[in-house]
Amino acid sequence: MQLSRRALLKLLVASSASIVVSSGLQGCVFAANDESRIAFDYGVASGDPLTDRVVLWTRVTPTSEDPIRLSWEVAEDEAFLQLVNSDSTIVDNQTDYTLKVDVMGLEAGKTYFYRFKSNNDTSLIGQTKTLSSNPQNVKFAVLSCANYPAGFFHVYREVANNASDLDAVIHLGDYIYEYGIDGYPEAGTGEVMNRVHEPLHECVTLADYRQRYAQYHSDPDLIALHAKVPFICLWDDHEIANDAYTDGAENHTELTEGDFLARKMAAIQVWYEWLPVRAPLIEDDKIKTYRQFKFGSILSLMLLDTRVIGRDQQLNYFDYLDAEGNLTEPELLVNDVREADRNLMGDTQLNWLQQTLQSSKSEGVVWQVLGQQVLMGRIYVPSSLIRFNPETGRPDPRNFLVYSEVYIAFQTFGENIKMQLISDGTLASYTSDIDGFDGLTDIEQKTALASALKLKDPDLYEMIFSNLSPSDQQTIIELGYLLDRSQNPYVPYNLDAWDGYDAERERLLDIANSEQANLVVLSGDSHNGWCNYVTDNNGMQRAIEFGTGAVSSPGLEVDMGIPGGYEVFIQNSIVSFVKDVEYCNSAQRGYLTVDFTENNVVSEWFVIEREAEKNPVFPVFERTKRISISAIDKVIVHG
Ligand SMILES: [Fe+2]
Repeated sequence: MQLSRRALLKLLVASSASIVVSSGLQGCVFAANDESRIAFDYGVASGDPLTDRVVLWTRVTPTSEDPIRLSWEVAEDEAFLQLVNSDSTIVDNQTDYTLKVDVMGLEAGKTYFYRFKSNNDTSLIGQTKTLSSNPQNVKFAVLSCANYPAGFFHVYREVANNASDLDAVIHLGDYIYEYGIDGYPEAGTGEVMNRVHEPLHECVTLADYRQRYAQYHSDPDLIALHAKVPFICLWDDHEIANDAYTDGAENHTELTEGDFLARKMAAIQVWYEWLPVRAPLIEDDKIKTYRQFKFGSILSLMLLDTRVIGRDQQLNYFDYLDAEGNLTEPELLVNDVREADRNLMGDTQLNWLQQTLQSSKSEGVVWQVLGQQVLMGRIYVPSSLIRFNPETGRPDPRNFLVYSEVYIAFQTFGENIKMQLISDGTLASYTSDIDGFDGLTDIEQKTALASALKLKDPDLYEMIFSNLSPSDQQTIIELGYLLDRSQNPYVPYNLDAWDGYDAERERLLDIANSEQANLVVLSGDSHNGWCNYVTDNNGMQRAIEFGTGAVSSPGLEVDMGIPGGYEVFIQNSIVSFVKDVEYCNSAQRGYLTVDFTENNVVSEWFVIEREAEKNPVFPVFERTKRISISAIDKVIVHG
């Protein structure tokens, strides 16, 4: 069937919207005259599933600048014998030859197969699933931070291989990285694996971002995962530029890279083009990605935007450091992060969240789950740890390594004291004398016991002390003050996370408390695995947080330049000196699964060995942690 020029123009206008809505069973495939092959080089994808609809996505590789007609089919079976919907439409450069179809009229809780066709080629077959209206359990894989030149996307392949019981993949952002070849990770990293960023320069324009997404979408592991399970996506900063906030970004220079708003809107346009996200019908609403997904009476999933809509500019550590990069006035920093008018989400989004929590609770839904970008738990560390290299702007590990010596010496000393007091039957008399003993971290408890023993029984103190190695004795004498909070106050480590926006976190937690939400927070961005209690400023537990590791982006061990062998020490010490942290994996790439029922949620973290990151051979994934939490008492149970 030939299209008249008028009909063609009409269709072109229709296709300029980035999504096609289809609700009826109809077939209308147009034969094209062009005999050249139209390849589906970037696979297929599905996303934003609801009980009756799901967004399907593909992209064709154009052979000319002409528009291309594509048809699509949805069936109940992989052989496409039980066809439930089909249609066709035209794609062109207005959407970078990507096609999204919001297929409606589907049954709840059902698996469907889909594919796309041009006149002479067929895409691979994708599998997707609508949400159940009455699920017994809801399971997600939670992913974030895939940096193409930093390593292979083994995580995507592993999740694809284990996708059969997943309801969706939640991708919390950093789906791409905007850097050029000399940016992050360090120059030369991608060359080793033949995974150099395209374009070679940093993404700034519409064409740049399109090329970058095309590169990521050509990765066979990502293609495999998209074809298996629907995605629910959020953007983080790198979909635009590093440490983005409402009016700018750390990695944006207006003078050389132009208007930030133009860059942001280009990046957002491409995000909608290349991801299976349901685009709002109103163009101006495209910036509002916060939205809700309902999973029967088990959970409401609320996706937040902490980047683009309401975020004030991050505080900068360099405003609080001396010339050598040490943090000399920690109180100043803590006062500033607590300023009441610092926003991360903004009032409109907070109001939406309150209303959504309220309706979720009134509907009797057990869990209220936030999917969002940055870590919400309070990761306050001793200020003596903070040191930055003034020349590179990167964290300097030297203070941490000094601290580690003190920490190790005190661990041994404190443990010996504790064992002695237990065997004497006097531990309780010591702990009851120490103010707020139960609220102290593990290392603080040991330090307090040492001080108390020194006062109460100097002979016993000297006896235990004399059993230490000479170097541990010297460390404790010279550097013991580093464990004393009055001389070494705690400060937030990551000013880009919720820790840098204390008042906004308090507003959110107050809302959750007033709505009596059973709050679970899913977080990305940090490149490290976490399980944290989220507490308010009065120390009240208001939520549990699960942080997912990175698909391939380097973690704390690279960010801080930690020497080999110290990685495990770092994560163990973080758990020990940060009260709210229950689990931390700061040195391995991987992902998280969360499985919710009416009674509990089980979270599991899976990782690979460091050596496997840059090796194309598919590695073995190890489950490093399993944690379960009851819906009633919200106590974290390990194992
Ligand atoms: Fe990241």
